[in-house]
Amino acid sequence: MYKNIFKIVLLALVLGIQSCTTAVIDKGNKNTLPPINKTVTYQTDIKSIMTNNCITCHAGPAPNAGLDLSNYQNTRYSAAQGNLVARMNSATNPMPPSGTLSPQTLQIIDKWIIDNLPEN
Ligand code: HEC
Repeated sequence: MYKNIFKIVLLALVLGIQSCTTAVIDKGNKNTLPPINKTVTYQTDIKSIMTNNCITCHAGPAPNAGLDLSNYQNTRYSAAQGNLVARMNSATNPMPPSGTLSPQTLQIIDKWIIDNLPEN
């Protein structure tokens, strides 16, 4: 009798842990989101993403990886010529290092590339 209760509690724990893990990893997929029907610009959309998620490490006198993402020119360069997009979308080596941003945010970055990286 007690053995069965123990098994049930154990099962509940395992299932509980699994559902938590799944919830953290599965953030959805940007490719299934409705399309963005406006032009994405640095000033309106991208700057705040960088400010909120990147410049704690990528700004100031000694930015990480020598990459300063606090202005338009550098962010544009890293998105066009560097690996900003690849790193933001990387599952194994993401930027920020704490984990990829939401699918909505990654979709905004993609649309900025499609729109040809405008400032305004
Ligand atoms: C907690 C600090 C931290 C945050 C926040 C952070 N980064 Fe980084 N980033 C690093 C470090 C450290 C490196 C160098 C090591 C590496 O490449 O993983 C790096 C490297 C990079 C590189 C590669 C540069 C190169 O020359 O190869 C890119 C691109 C990048 N980060 C973009 C971003 C973007 C975009 C964000 C925000 C969405 C961001 N990072 C947020 C610490 C951070």
